[in-house]
Amino acid sequence: MKVNSESILKVNGLTKSVQLEGKTLSILQPVNLQVNAGETLAIIGSSGSGKTTLLSILAGLDLPTSGEVYIKNHPLHQFNEEQRSQVRAEHVGFIFQQFLLINSLTALENVMLPAELANIENPKEKGIELLKLVGLENRLEHFPSQLSGGEQQRVAIARAFISQPDILFADEPTGNLDTKTGKYIADLLFDLNDRLGTTLVLVTHDPKLADRCARKVEMDSGVLTEASITSDSVVNANIANDQNAQEEPNNTTANNEKEEGAVCPT
Ligand SMILES: Nc1ncnc2c1ncn2[C@@H]1O[C@H](COP(=O)(O)OP(=O)(O)O)[C@@H](O)[C@H]1O
Ligand SMILES: [Mg+2]
Repeated sequence: MKVNSESILKVNGLTKSVQLEGKTLSILQPVNLQVNAGETLAIIGSSGSGKTTLLSILAGLDLPTSGEVYIKNHPLHQFNEEQRSQVRAEHVGFIFQQFLLINSLTALENVMLPAELANIENPKEKGIELLKLVGLENRLEHFPSQLSGGEQQRVAIARAFISQPDILFADEPTGNLDTKTGKYIADLLFDLNDRLGTTLVLVTHDPKLADRCARKVEMDSGVLTEASITSDSVVNANIANDQNAQEEPNNTTANNEKEEGAVCPT
C-alpha cells in the first residue's frame, strides 16, 4: 500500500459534548489527528470511550461541538448536511458493525444505491463486479434477511467500495461475526483496501485486527493518544491535550503484515 504525505483527513481540536438532563456530558476531549493518503489506522479503546462518536464526526455523519475536521480540504465542520452528504458521496465509505443494509432492497440494489445517488456510471455492472469480488455472485437477488451475517457484511463492504472512496471508515466491522467469519471479512477488507488504494480508519476491539494496521491510536474517556507506531508508518497524530506536540510528517510506506488474501467465503 502506498502512503504519501497528502493529508486526506485532518482534525484540529475536535470536541463533542451533549446536553443530558440539564448537564453537559463531554464525550470527546480536544482531538488532533492527521491521516495521510494510503494509511491504515486502527482506533482501539474500551466500550464507551468515544470511538463511534469520533468516527461519525470524521465521516461527516455528525458534527463536532467545536474544532475542525477536513476531508481532502473540505471543512466538514462548516458544512450543512447537504454539503457533507456530497463529500461523503464523493470521498467517503462507511462500514458499520450492524451492517445496516436496507432490508427492502436486494444485495445488488444495496450495493448500487450509493453509486446511483452519486450519479456514477454503470452502477449495475459495477455492483455485480464488486459482489463477485466479495464472492457473492450467486446472491445478487437475495434480500438481507436471506443472507448470513458474514454475507451481509460482504454486501456492506461491496457497497462501501462502489463509489471508490478515498477514505473508508469501519466501525467494529467484525464485531458481530464469529471468529472465522470475522477473519474472512478482515482479509477481504484489507485485500480490497490494498487493491483499490483506499485509506482505512478502523475501529476495533480485536488486537489482531488492529495489528494489521500500520498505525494505532487509543481512545480513553474521550482522549485520543498514539498507541504504538511501527517504524515505517506515517507519524502524524498529535497526542490530545499535548500542546507541545510537534508534527513530523514522514513520507514513507506503510508495511502491513498482511495475511493471505480472502479465500474462504462464509
Ligand atoms: N447522543 C448521545 N447522548 C448522550 N450520550 C451519548 C450520546 N452519544 C454517545 N454518548 C455517550 O458517549 C460515550 C461514548 O459513546 P461511543 O462513541 O458510542 O463509544 P464507543 O464507540 O467507544 O463504545 C458513551 O458513554 C455514550 O453513552
Ligand atoms: Mg462504538
